[in-house]
Amino acid sequence: MINIGKKKIGGPGWRNQNRISDELLKNLYGQQASQYFNQGDPNPFVFSDSRSFDLIELEQLLQAVGWGRRPLRRVKRALDNSLLKVGLWKHDKSFPRLIGFARCTGDGFIDATIWDVAINPVYQGSGLGKQLMSYLMRSLKREGIKRVTLFADADVIIFYKRQGWVLEPKGNKCAFWYSN
Ligand SMILES: CC(C)(COP(=O)(O)OP(=O)(O)OC[C@H]1O[C@@H](n2cnc3c(N)ncnc32)[C@H](O)[C@@H]1OP(=O)(O)O)[C@@H](O)C(=O)NCCC(=O)NCCS
Repeated sequence: MINIGKKKIGGPGWRNQNRISDELLKNLYGQQASQYFNQGDPNPFVFSDSRSFDLIELEQLLQAVGWGRRPLRRVKRALDNSLLKVGLWKHDKSFPRLIGFARCTGDGFIDATIWDVAINPVYQGSGLGKQLMSYLMRSLKREGIKRVTLFADADVIIFYKRQGWVLEPKGNKCAFWYSN
C-alpha cells in the first residue's frame, strides 16, 4: 500500500483495479509521472512534468479559470522557454483530459518562479491544487532549486499560506514593470 498525501492507493477494491500499471504510466505520461486517486472518483488522476501539451486544450483550461486568451504562438514559445511544466490529467487510456496546470521559469540552479497555477473549476476544492503544488515542488527540489517565488491574487493567498508559503515580509521588496 502506498500513501500519497491523505489518500491511499494500491488497496483492495476498485482503486486497485483502475490503477495504471507502472509501464503504461511511464509510456503515457513520462518517467516521473505519479498517479493519484481522489475521493469518490474511481479513475486515477496523473501528474506529469514530461508529457507534452495540446496547446488548445491548455488554453481552454486557462480560459475556464477566467484568464484571457493569449496568442498560441507566444504561449508555445513561453512553454518552450519554461524551466518546468506540470500537467494534471484525468486518466483515460485513449483520451486523457488536461484538468490542471502549472509552470515555472528560472535559471535552473538557484531561482524559480511559478506561473499559471490552475485547476479546472469542475475539479476545484477537492485537494487537487494542493497535490499539483506538492508534485511541482518535488520536481523543483529534484533539480536542486534553492528559492521559489510566485505572485498571487489576494483571494488566493490563503491557498498558498496553507502550504507553508510566506508572504513577502515588508511589502517593499517587489517591483513591477508593464509594457502598457
Ligand atoms: C487556486 C487553485 C489552483 C486551487 O486549487 P484547488 O484544487 O481548488 O485547491 P485545493 O482543493 O487543493 O485546496 C487546498 C486548500 O486551499 C484552500 N483554497 C483553495 N482555493 C482557495 C482560494 N481561492 N482561496 C482560499 N483558500 C483556497 C482550500 O480550502 C484547501 O484548504 P484545506 O487544505 O484547509 O482543506 C484553483 O482554485 C484555481 O485554479 N483557481 C483559479 C486560478 C487561480 O487563481 N490560480 C492561482 C494563481 S496565483
